[in-house]
Amino acid sequence: MRVGYVQFEPRFGEVKRNIGRAIEMMGSERADLWVLPELFSTGYLFVSREELMGLAEPVPEGPTTQALLDFSRKANATVVAGLAERAGDKVYNAAVIVGPAGLIGRYRKIHLFGKEKLWFDPGDLPLEPMDLGGVKIGVMICFDHFFPETARTLALRGAQILCHPANLVLPGMGQLSMRVRAMENRVFAVTANRIGGEARGGEELRFTGESQIVAPEGAVLLRASPEGEEVGVVEIDPEKALDKRVTRYNDLFADRRPEFYGA
Ligand code: ACM
Repeated sequence: MRVGYVQFEPRFGEVKRNIGRAIEMMGSERADLWVLPELFSTGYLFVSREELMGLAEPVPEGPTTQALLDFSRKANATVVAGLAERAGDKVYNAAVIVGPAGLIGRYRKIHLFGKEKLWFDPGDLPLEPMDLGGVKIGVMICFDHFFPETARTLALRGAQILCHPANLVLPGMGQLSMRVRAMENRVFAVTANRIGGEARGGEELRFTGESQIVAPEGAVLLRASPEGEEVGVVEIDPEKALDKRVTRYNDLFADRRPEFYGA
């Protein structure tokens, strides 16, 4: 199975252009599963809930999901992409999972970061892996990486590949913790981070790039540069993520002692 990330620089508010750029980049390589950054079609730094509501889209009717569905059908690929989802009077920092046969699912970020807490509603969907015809993926968004419970829950429920759309801003941290999330759960992890910066509403953020694909033992299989627009694709065997043994005596899931773990 070929898995890949798209690392690029969305321009704030230029939804059509951002969708086009991401699709153009995915078109440059062949992958079975693509991961795009968090909020890839809108940009990140909103200054009000009204502004966010104006750019957020219903799923699957909105232009971002529709364009990805079209790409997915033509390329025979699954795409996991971060976007702003409007659902009635709620708005989520979400991800859609689309495949050649249609919408597979959605995820709504449960651990909001910084000013996201001012504008977005917190995620309200369970952490359920999605089945891509025999391979299970789990979706988590950016700051979710700081909460090991997110990856653990997805892995315990069968996820073999963690798909991690991101807009990481703390240098090196998400890249490090996703290696640990992969290692401690014996799963693959694909982080698609963005690059560039945004300065809006008196705040300025730089995004750290270094998108990466990590193997179940924590090895970095591929990592992008901190600043370039890049796609990266690696051939993986997702079966490897079903084996939780680290020594002949230790199986990471069988050895858990949940009776000792608190809330
Ligand atoms: C983040 O969660 N976008 C840092």
